[in-house]
Formats: sequence, structure tokens, C-alpha cells
Amino acid sequence: MSTLKDKVAVVTGGNSGIGYATAEEFLARGAKVVITGRNRDAVEAAATGLGGGTLGVTANQASIADAEGLVNTVKERYGKVDVLFVNAGIGAFAPVNDVTEDQFDETMNINFKGAFFTIQKFLPLLNDGASIILLSSVNAFTGMPGASVYSASKAALNSLGRTLSRELADRGIRVNTVNPGPIKTPILAKAGLDEEGVTAFRQKSAERVPLNRTGESAEVAKLVAFLASADASFITGAEYTIDGGLTVHQLLG
Ligand SMILES: NC(=O)c1ccc[n+]([C@@H]2O[C@H](COP(=O)([O-])OP(=O)(O)OC[C@H]3O[C@@H](n4cnc5c(N)ncnc54)[C@H](OP(=O)(O)O)[C@@H]3O)[C@@H](O)[C@H]2O)c1
Repeated sequence: MSTLKDKVAVVTGGNSGIGYATAEEFLARGAKVVITGRNRDAVEAAATGLGGGTLGVTANQASIADAEGLVNTVKERYGKVDVLFVNAGIGAFAPVNDVTEDQFDETMNINFKGAFFTIQKFLPLLNDGASIILLSSVNAFTGMPGASVYSASKAALNSLGRTLSRELADRGIRVNTVNPGPIKTPILAKAGLDEEGVTAFRQKSAERVPLNRTGESAEVAKLVAFLASADASFITGAEYTIDGGLTVHQLLG
């Protein structure tokens, strides 16, 4: 399927999880792919693993200077961007009473402020008709205890997606948001859960999902690739939840 043939696609946080799987999907659909991440070795290893000429750029999404450097690097290599997948993010979980200012700032700076300025800096390089996809979470509209800052950082993305879909419509740039439920990636371990904690969280999540399992990164990647392509040409300002039915209210049964 060549729905992204010769399109230039940037994936932030592309060295792992959903970002890596989406980079794979973009490549399979014919795109030229750029991935970013904050760890040079991880980014280079991922770019090599993806193959297909993938360009790996070390850029911390929390840094506006890094975003500017990223844009310059992509400009030199390709001169334009057709797809911007703003995916990089961290999970950080603590009861409201225990959240420190540093933790608050780190989550907001990566998940929201960084996402905002990444988009702002890429605007001059985006082709008219480009597609921006924001990776949010079902946490954006649910009330999971311990997720106050993470959830707010994601809710801010959903709001941004709606506003930008209006602001950028005159250039034909579509902006959509994807809200995954529990997806099997390294994010929980990176958030500090040990192996037992990760297994317990996944099991509990799967039990609550009507489809009775957690999701795979490749399943999210297919949705993102659809939104990136011309198949989604009349879709903007929309949100897609991909959670196996987790957030459907189950009043009975
Ligand atoms: N997995 C889920 O259940 C789930 C559900 C809903 C939403 N999400 C969202 O999905 C997105 C991808 O997460 P994932 O689950 O695929 O986890 P992941 O495997 O940890 O991927 C996150 C990616 O973002 C990168 N990243 C983190 N902070 C960064 C920074 N400051 N600058 C640049 N890159 C950074 C990570 O790099 P490192 O390898 O260096 O950490 C990694 O490549 C996140 O925004 C997350 O909030 C995940």
C-alpha cells in the first residue's frame, strides 16, 4: 500500500513504542521518514533498525532550541514536510499531594509545551495540505487517580488540535488527535514501574477492556497512517479513540 509514497514524515519520539511502529508503517507506505528522540544512541539504533534511509535526529522535545535545530536538519535534507506526528511523551504518575514542581514542569514541558513549539517551528516547512497528528491519550477525558498532570498535559493537546485545525485550514493542513487506551510499550517501565507492576497494570487494564486485551503499537500506527494519508482528506479537528472499548460506559452488563 503506497498511500504515503514520497511523502516526508516526521515522527517525534520515534525510537520506541508507538512512534517506532508508526515509522515502520509510514515506511511500508512509501514515506521518507525522520525520527527523533532524546537519547542519541537509541535514536541511531532505531534509525538503523528501521532502514529505508530513515534519518534519526537527537532532539529533546522539551527544548525549543532543539526543535529549531530539528527543523533546520529536516529542511536541509528534504526542504519540506508532509506529515508531522507529534508523539513523544512521558508518563509520570503520583497522587496530587506528592507531585513536585519539577515533575509537573517535566511532564508539561515534554508532553504539551514541547509539542506546541515543535508544531510552531515546523509550520514554515509544512506543505499546504500537510497532515499533523497529535498523540494524546484516553487520560485526556478520564479521571485516573495518580494521573492528574499527565492527563492535563494530554487534554491540552486535544484542545490544541481543535484550535489548530481551524487556524491552519486555509492552508489545507489537517490536524487530528489520537487517544489510545493501554498499549503495550516500554512507557510504564520508563515511568518507574517494576516488572511486576507493569504486568499487574496491564492485566487490570485488559480485564476492563471489552475486547479483553491491551493494544499493540502497530494497531495505533495504522490509524495514524490513515490520518496522515489522502484517504483522510476530509478529516480535520477530529479525535479518534483507540482503546478496545475501554472508555465506553458500561451501565449494565
Ligand atoms: N503506551 C500507552 O499505553 C499509551 C497510551 C496513551 C498514550 N500514550 C502516548 O503515546 C506516546 C508514545 O508513548 P509509548 O507508549 O510509545 O512509549 P515509549 O515507547 O516510551 O515512546 C515514547 C517515545 O518518546 C520519546 N521521548 C520521551 N521524552 C522525550 C523528549 N523529551 N524528547 C524527545 N523524545 C522523547 C521516547 O524516548 P526514550 O526512549 O528516550 O524514552 C520514546 O521514543 C506518548 O505520548 C504517550 O503518552 C501511550
